[in-house]
Amino acid sequence: MALWAVGVGAEHVVLVSRRGGGAPGVGELVGRLEGLGVRVSVVGCDVADRGAVAGLLGDLVGRGERLRAVVHAAGVAQLTPLGEVGVGEVEEVLRAKVGGAVVLDELTAGLDLDA
Ligand SMILES: NC(=O)c1ccc[n+]([C@@H]2O[C@H](COP(=O)([O-])OP(=O)(O)OC[C@H]3O[C@@H](n4cnc5c(N)ncnc54)[C@H](OP(=O)(O)O)[C@@H]3O)[C@@H](O)[C@H]2O)c1
Repeated sequence: MALWAVGVGAEHVVLVSRRGGGAPGVGELVGRLEGLGVRVSVVGCDVADRGAVAGLLGDLVGRGERLRAVVHAAGVAQLTPLGEVGVGEVEEVLRAKVGGAVVLDELTAGLDLDA
């Protein structure tokens, strides 16, 4: 997704996950993106945590960055058969996907996004 974003014109890519710079493979991805001539920031942030996302967005805007697009791909993989899924697992899966979408949608509503 990050490589695709560069292909369609992104100049600065902000990679966000809870592990941030500690995520496996992140160094290699940053190297590939920088090799294409874009700036890359790696940030540790839980997208379902409203305060953390507000801090991240405030930080970017405070540095004079114009946020152009948000790609919400955060998700927790789960392969449990539907009939065996418990409430805790549903909560964990929905937290990142739905909770993250709600937080991102609300906190970027006032920004002039392209996408
Ligand atoms: N790969 C497929 O075939 C496929 C098919 C259909 C749909 N999808 C969906 O497409 C998305 C990306 O897939 P993928 O294969 O790239 O999955 P992936 O490798 O598991 O990546 C998901 C990323 O989400 C991050 N994440 C999870 N919860 C988060 C949170 N609360 N806040 C911030 N980051 C969070 C994870 O990092 P941390 O754990 O460090 O936060 C991880 O980097 C997922 O939503 C997946 O369900 C994938």
